[in-house]
Amino acid sequence: MYKQQAQTKLFFEKDAKNWQIKSDVNKNKLLNTVQERNFYVVNQIKKLKINSLIDVGCGTGDLSYDASKIIKKSVGIDFSKNMIRLAQNKFKRKNLEFYNKNFFKTDFNERFDCLSANGFIEYLSLKDIVKFIKISKKIVKKNKFIIFGTRNRLFNLFSLNKFSENEFKKTTFKKFYEESIALNHMKFSDFIRLKKNKFEEVLFKQPKTAINVDKRHQFSPLQLVDILKKNNWETLDFCPINYHPVVPSKYHQNKENKIFSNYIYLSKESNKLPFIPFSSSFMVLAKNK
Ligand SMILES: C[S@@+](CC[C@H](N)C(=O)[O-])C[C@H]1O[C@@H](n2cnc3c(N)ncnc32)[C@H](O)[C@@H]1O
Repeated sequence: MYKQQAQTKLFFEKDAKNWQIKSDVNKNKLLNTVQERNFYVVNQIKKLKINSLIDVGCGTGDLSYDASKIIKKSVGIDFSKNMIRLAQNKFKRKNLEFYNKNFFKTDFNERFDCLSANGFIEYLSLKDIVKFIKISKKIVKKNKFIIFGTRNRLFNLFSLNKFSENEFKKTTFKKFYEESIALNHMKFSDFIRLKKNKFEEVLFKQPKTAINVDKRHQFSPLQLVDILKKNNWETLDFCPINYHPVVPSKYHQNKENKIFSNYIYLSKESNKLPFIPFSSSFMVLAKNK
């Protein structure tokens, strides 16, 4: 196992109990990143009439469980023993299964209407992200869906912190700024037809985050459209997650900021693309063509 994945496994084995609290809607008054991502998947399951789900890197199993209440079959897999143990102990239903497996070492002999993976691709090498997209094509039925969350590279331009300083030194800065402007005024259908930003990793040493892993990838929407298109997936939607009405250094100083962030997430606004540059993550929905 390479360093990034080994660090990820170590971190989440230790953090499983803490993660369980974070994921539990009853233990948090306001929606956090984990819950916003999970709600997005559940809403799409309802909208797209999805009947079966495999949640990759399912953590403590909250999404798999919520999905199992509205679909025929729900499966969660995670390579952390502690995460899966917590999931199995807390959530029991006939149509719900949890497996302690590494996604890349699993033989999938069943196909699903949807594969979800929240907070997953950031912990993989670039090569493995491409492999993940290719393997998913075999797991997801034709014309059905993949939904995943990603950290947002565009947010680096607006967080005005160390990430911004690093980003500013790169020649790619202008492209990402143009992409942010495009999100603010273009329709989704026109936006995804723009010249793609190359799928590549952040080429600077990343400042440490709350999760003790050296490398956590970030991508822009057009970078993901690029890699999805090359692998014959049609991108259908982006949804901002953890919108920041103020810079991160001020965000946690005042509860109202998080309330406003939830307000943006829950608003019925039909076009949420303009919120993406100011969101630390976003969701991607794509169809297996
Ligand atoms: C950030 S947590 C997200 C958990 C859950 N999806 C959520 O949003 O609450 C990432 C999870 O991915 C799991 N993971 C990372 N790489 C994996 C791999 N190769 N195979 C299976 N699980 C993996 C980790 O153990 C961890 O539980």
